[in-house]
Amino acid sequence: MRTIKIFDTTLRDGEQAPGCSMHAHEKIEIAMALERLRVDVIEAGFAFASKGDFESIQQICQVVKDSTICSLARAVPKDIDAACEALRDAKQGRIHLFLATSPIHMQYKLKMTPETVLSTISEMVAYARNLMPEVEFSAEDATRSERSFLAQALEAAIAAGANVVNIPDTVGYATPTEVVDLLDYLRNNVRGIEDVCISVHCHNDLGLGVANSLAAVTAGAGQIECTINGLGERAGNAAMEEIVMGLHTRKAFYQCESNIDTTQIYRSSRLVYNLLGLPTPINKAIVGANAFAHEAGIHQHGVLANRETYEIMSPQSIGLLKNEMVFGKHSGRHAVEQRLTEMGYQLGKKELDELFERFKKLADKKKSINDHDLEALARRSVIDIPHGFKLDRFTVSCGNYVTSSAVVRLKQNDDLHEEVAIGDGPIAAAYNAIDKIIPAPPHILEDYTIASVTEGNDALGEVVVKIRNGEKMVIGRGLSTDIIEASIIAYVNGLNRLL
Ligand code: KIV
Ligand code: ZN
Repeated sequence: MRTIKIFDTTLRDGEQAPGCSMHAHEKIEIAMALERLRVDVIEAGFAFASKGDFESIQQICQVVKDSTICSLARAVPKDIDAACEALRDAKQGRIHLFLATSPIHMQYKLKMTPETVLSTISEMVAYARNLMPEVEFSAEDATRSERSFLAQALEAAIAAGANVVNIPDTVGYATPTEVVDLLDYLRNNVRGIEDVCISVHCHNDLGLGVANSLAAVTAGAGQIECTINGLGERAGNAAMEEIVMGLHTRKAFYQCESNIDTTQIYRSSRLVYNLLGLPTPINKAIVGANAFAHEAGIHQHGVLANRETYEIMSPQSIGLLKNEMVFGKHSGRHAVEQRLTEMGYQLGKKELDELFERFKKLADKKKSINDHDLEALARRSVIDIPHGFKLDRFTVSCGNYVTSSAVVRLKQNDDLHEEVAIGDGPIAAAYNAIDKIIPAPPHILEDYTIASVTEGNDALGEVVVKIRNGEKMVIGRGLSTDIIEASIIAYVNGLNRLL
């Protein structure tokens, strides 16, 4: 059995996806989830790209101690220096250096001759190795490069000290057979390749990211680069949960395993979708609501007789619990804590106190509280902004023949602020009142979605708003059994972030 290293780039390539940029505290939350997953390498950002990226890499180095932390860098000294500086406190750091090797990238993007590309690789990998013991070199657009040139580029990187060589399918162009063929070629034609780790990084433009990554494993790759939920540039990267469960479920076929704690998969996937304000597609492999649902009678009959008739993995293996537990207003804090731990949530004392407070309020309104409600309550502890505005009270008046109006009172620390406004519907009226209170920069409400967390008339409603201020977009979330209250909380949460 070989152990395949999982290199997660949710915080770098994933963040490059449109509408997926994240705040530092969200990145830290995700980095902690990646550490719980036992990811081998976390690509925490691109240090030179922005001050925000630089600082969040630094902060991630402070909190994550088990995984290697990596920063991307172009093959230029200023990028390498920034990466090295940002990684200074990492227990184990890695610089990920990239330079394109395909004719189209070299001619039109880099405007460099192949000879200059080769000498730059040698110089910059050596420069990085002088500063950091672990250096990965990526030949960007490798799958559209000329094979013999790609082999020379990787050979130059290895000779200069690269410990990992990455073969990106940057534009998601390759097929699984071609990937196997390319890796075979490189293993036979690159001097020194047997002493380094071969990595792949497959984009999903043709829907083959995961297939290409797993094909690479059969051809000797020792590291796969991927993202949670397959986020990433354009159609995204290979999805980590699919790769990991592919290796896990077909261990005998691949003769490989990973270090990932698969029971953290579901929770981590939900965390990322939630922080980005995205719904989980119901038919998403591994983590979608339908992944373990059996609707057709014949399937249900088979599963009842023997689960394995239609299930190749168990829901528990990704962290979904078998027997739903139901809680109510008489449930104790200990039982709630224990269930959250079983669901993979290890909350600190303060977070747990706050969560239990919300649990009790919810139990007064809702007869039975299930795992989905608990999960939604736990997610809330991630999104509250400590010193921001909070909803104190509101009243709305609306109907189909009157102009809607709202009175909203918000609290910030010990100060109360109240405003009244009208609007086209109760939510618009409440949002207009909030806009009069919170001194946020100019913004527009770009998106508003509402979904129920569970079934039933007393279900919790979860509202997600996307608020844009120029280039910047923030997400706000609100949760309540009352959808107007959930809408107000979401908007206040979003504006707090904008502030
Ligand atoms: O897709 C790509 O080529 C990349 C490299 C920087 C590895 O993201
Ligand atoms: Zn990429």
